Amino acid sequence: MKITKLYARQVLDSRGNPTVEVEAYFNNYLGRAIVPSGASTGKHEAIELRDGRKEYLGKSVMRAVNNVNKIIAREIKDVEFLNQRAIDDLLIKLDGTPNKSKLGANAILGVSMAVCRLAASVKHKQLYEYIGELSGNKNFRIPIPFANIINGGKHSGSSLKMQEFMIAPVKAKSFKDAARMVSETYHILKGLIKEKYGTLAINVGDEGGFAPPLKTPEEALELITEAIKKAGYKGKIKISMDPAASEFYDGNNYVLDKSYTREEMLNYYSYLLKKYDIYSIEDPFEQDDYEGFKRLSELAKNKLIIGDDLLVTNPERINYAIQHKLCNGLLLKVNQIGTVTEAIHAAKLAIDAKWKVMVSHRSGETEDTFIADLAVGIGCGHIKIGAPCRSDRVSKYNQLLRIEENKIKYGF
Ligand code: PGA
Ligand code: ZN
Repeated sequence: MKITKLYARQVLDSRGNPTVEVEAYFNNYLGRAIVPSGASTGKHEAIELRDGRKEYLGKSVMRAVNNVNKIIAREIKDVEFLNQRAIDDLLIKLDGTPNKSKLGANAILGVSMAVCRLAASVKHKQLYEYIGELSGNKNFRIPIPFANIINGGKHSGSSLKMQEFMIAPVKAKSFKDAARMVSETYHILKGLIKEKYGTLAINVGDEGGFAPPLKTPEEALELITEAIKKAGYKGKIKISMDPAASEFYDGNNYVLDKSYTREEMLNYYSYLLKKYDIYSIEDPFEQDDYEGFKRLSELAKNKLIIGDDLLVTNPERINYAIQHKLCNGLLLKVNQIGTVTEAIHAAKLAIDAKWKVMVSHRSGETEDTFIADLAVGIGCGHIKIGAPCRSDRVSKYNQLLRIEENKIKYGF
């Protein structure tokens, strides 16, 4: 079966920046997808093509849109679309660069996801079922949500240098339960922040979490610990952090309230891990600080140390990290690598190495809920979807609530 029409347009993401939407048709069947976009992007990620012209302050994506409509649309008509690998191989070949900089990872991913949706719908399958088929997984799981309820770094205007402070309802019985636990804790945190820092402090950052004027990570961790306790979920909700350390690395040191060496950061993390009920830390060191990752992984054996900017969902970097024991978890972002097939392959490498995989949104999201189905389909048990606030984040919660009605188990 061949695609009868492929069409891209420019739409807006959750920050009001342009992004690519793609529609793939087979007669009356439609698969549609919108591409997300990061702010604290890793330097090894696939390239998102932006026009750099006057419109949208340089951020328009018409070159990527035209690449879909003029180049990919012509070539894709010869390829069987029920074969996702063949579609993605074509996209990779048409681009021909190692980082998808010719056609743009935003053009390529839009097509890859839209075709995946189209195939699911032609086969009368749920998207997660079809992704399960593509990845060879039958053990569907509703993932535990990692909800970023205090936003710092590049995602907010607050002075907090570390980027994300999340809660994870690890002991919830179902996703329905998890959504309730996250929402209640979020609202209790809102009250605590209002009491301590005033009403202005309850404004939210890019991922729907609060962005109060905090200076140190401890202040954020104290607030969250208190909110969890007050909500009655002590021991049932754990804390998770994404410092996104590449963003506060100055080339020599990590600059927080003062300058920290790698050694000092290691000590600092050990102290935080002892003091707070922390389940995972993502990007504790900058993207090429292999030594930092390795040392923390050795030091905190029972914790999940996740690579995001470190790995950029890239099989080569993942293999290197597995070999050198740099971490034990993969943050899976489809737009870092650019096709569904490559993202599934990346997840498999990590799963085979007995790592955990956490599917993730970007700080610039849309109403597209693809990642919810992806997490269920590959059965990875973890998903990072922001706070239960703003529709770009809530849409993922709601999709998981829908999927759970198909009697799929929740958790790891
Ligand atoms: P980004 O951040 O989407 O802005 O890159 C998310 C993350 O670092 O996990
Ligand atoms: Zn990250």
